Amino acid sequence: MNPASTPVLAVRHAEKRFGAVHALKGVSLEAFRGEVLALLGDNGAGKSTLVKCISGVYPLDGGAILLDGEATALYSPAAARRAGIETVYQDLALFDNLTPAQNFYCGHEIAFPSWLPRGLRILSSRAMDREAAHVLERLKVNLPKLDAPVALMSGGQRQAIAVARATVFAHKVVMLDEPTAALGVRESRKVLALIAQLRAEGNAVILITHNMEHVVELADRAIVLRQGRKVGELKPDRANQKELVALIVGAEA
Ligand SMILES: Nc1ncnc2c1ncn2[C@@H]1O[C@H](COP(=O)(O)OP(=O)(O)O)[C@@H](O)[C@H]1O
Ligand SMILES: [Mg+2]
Repeated sequence: MNPASTPVLAVRHAEKRFGAVHALKGVSLEAFRGEVLALLGDNGAGKSTLVKCISGVYPLDGGAILLDGEATALYSPAAARRAGIETVYQDLALFDNLTPAQNFYCGHEIAFPSWLPRGLRILSSRAMDREAAHVLERLKVNLPKLDAPVALMSGGQRQAIAVARATVFAHKVVMLDEPTAALGVRESRKVLALIAQLRAEGNAVILITHNMEHVVELADRAIVLRQGRKVGELKPDRANQKELVALIVGAEA
């Protein structure tokens, strides 16, 4: 296969049920390096479920996930992260009781010496604090304290930490589930800039948002889910914004 045309992520006929709720009904999508793919849909359409299936939170009931063309079993969030998939979740973006640095390196802990097997290495919390502070500074994320649990921080600060963390560790796919929902205008701009940076670095970025302005500004393609089914795919621009909204809510354009 031509590597340039191989999607870094492909979902084929994904099926997911929660008891009587059929949350994903044969959803397929492809995401390519260096693009922002908007994943759109009304509340309950299945967006977060799809993200969680790709990030190893839920197993699929049917269908497959391919990374760089190879079928991959993402049996846990840690396995997905090791495979290069970073996720900013809508609900559980951070661990409340941990500091920003601990949140940053959760699953990517800095441990020494590197030649020992993982389980025998010593975690370096000082190295993690130092690195996290450096990264947050580079990304211009201002936090009052780096050593307080994130439970004490505002929604915007928490979201900024979660997005910053994804920017550092992503190397294939980054999924952001409503990353600006809790943010003001200025903080949103910062997150949009980080998303553009992730794309420029060659990641496939999957962005869930209800903000059509952000979609038109940033997304190279959009996929629309409705009641667990993919109902449309198009290149968003100002001219077809109405059509896009009609697809989302299920009305005639
Ligand atoms: N853990 C769960 N248990 C039971 N039902 C769920 C669970 N997660 C999601 N659902 C249901 O699956 C459907 C899709 O939800 P979700 O993926 O969260 O939608 P969206 O993110 O598009 O708003 C909804 O009907 C929701 O109630
Ligand atoms: Mg959701």
